Amino acid sequence: MDILTTPPEVRAWVGERRRRAQRIGLVPTMGCLHAGHLSLVRLARQRADAVVLSVFVNPIQFGPGDNLAGYPRDLERDQRLCREAGVAALFLPSAEALYPAGHSTFVEEVWFSRGLCGDRRPGHFKGVTTIVAKLFNLVQPDVAVFGRKDAQQARVIQQMTRDLDFPVEIVLGPTVREADGLAMSSRNQHLNADQRRQALCLARALDAAARRLTAGERNAAALIAVMREEISRAPQARVDYLEIVDNETFEPVATLKRTALALLAVHVGGTRLIDNALLTPDGL
Ligand code: PAF
Repeated sequence: MDILTTPPEVRAWVGERRRRAQRIGLVPTMGCLHAGHLSLVRLARQRADAVVLSVFVNPIQFGPGDNLAGYPRDLERDQRLCREAGVAALFLPSAEALYPAGHSTFVEEVWFSRGLCGDRRPGHFKGVTTIVAKLFNLVQPDVAVFGRKDAQQARVIQQMTRDLDFPVEIVLGPTVREADGLAMSSRNQHLNADQRRQALCLARALDAAARRLTAGERNAAALIAVMREEISRAPQARVDYLEIVDNETFEPVATLKRTALALLAVHVGGTRLIDNALLTPDGL
């Protein structure tokens, strides 16, 4: 596995692969890899000859209250996992390499970035689209893989890719969960044992909504109430948002007539967790 740290190194590496007519896959990450990331690598390997995985804790997608310095990092382990997973090149840029002094250009998607995490984390998606656009330009992948756990991010990236005519196929990988249902996230490391138990309220809330839907409930407010009730059982959990939107348009829905997406962000202790699930009414 090659380790690349600067944009010129990436360009040279990619150029060499292209001369050999290889298809390139990209898995952008912020490191502290877990089984969810490794499932994205598998998807990329199925679609490309060589997979580049980037590890970059992108400072511009963190707001003042987001604890950039406290974001978990474990580069040695990340390297080992990438090697074992068959990653061809690990891209480990420094912040200075990607945002040299005087950097003043950003990429912003303005429709799907509204609401949900977009409202709670101003500037977050602008930071995400800027770094992903830069990575697309550097790596020039044929295919890039992102996780469905970050559903709004995935939608924003799909839109940016379409709007800016990036010739990149966007593939979304399913959310990978711990055995008890907790969605995998690097942030789970911040939870103590008690909070770890309480963090299950997110997956339980989504399950409860899905069960109520199966039982015939189509009213979004009623399904949201079911989820809120489930979250309230965890004393250290505080709802940030809890919404049901149309899966295509991301507009809030009042009555579920076609596939919708339930999304929630919940603070458990000091850790903000997100999760989501598709809600598909019977007969679709
Ligand atoms: O999902 C993430 O880990 C990040 O937002 C991403 C896509 C790597 C951009 O920094």
